[in-house]
Amino acid sequence: MVKKELKIAFTEYDSETELNQMEQDLLQKARQASDLAYAPYSNFFVGAALLLENGVVVTGNNQENVAYPSGLCAERVAIYAAGAQYPNVAINIIAITCKSKLFHVDEPLSPCGACRQAISEYEMRHHKNIRIILAGETGKIRVMESIADLLPFMFKAEALKRL
Ligand code: THU
Repeated sequence: MVKKELKIAFTEYDSETELNQMEQDLLQKARQASDLAYAPYSNFFVGAALLLENGVVVTGNNQENVAYPSGLCAERVAIYAAGAQYPNVAINIIAITCKSKLFHVDEPLSPCGACRQAISEYEMRHHKNIRIILAGETGKIRVMESIADLLPFMFKAEALKRL
């Protein structure tokens, strides 16, 4: 028996003003997207902004449904919109943020597992790591250089080849 450990890496910034201007602008677009979220059931508004390799920014926000599971998270709305409109263009960065009507979010959002898996698909699809910028309404900013740092042991296409 061997006990093993996996390390993940991320950078933490005290304030978003420490990000470069391009990343601050992208986070701002994610914040604007969160303002437009449709979240009447949770009152939790999430916004995502993707910077594609061709310079285009694609945004998304959570879209809820009275039949709860029919809704979709902001990250997947954005990433599938990019996949639909720019199927051959890699994603360089995704900025994700959130706000709530019910409480103040003072720490970075941590994307749900399904969205992590969706982001991992696009890293594999384009053979390119996606930088992930996570922010709350205020507080620290967390940055990962790849989804591997948020989703260790992710399900990979190689597993299908063994079936
Ligand atoms: N949500 C997102 O949009 N992204 C996440 O990473 C986590 C959760 C949404 C889903 C739902 O509309 C609301 O936030 C509360 O869970």
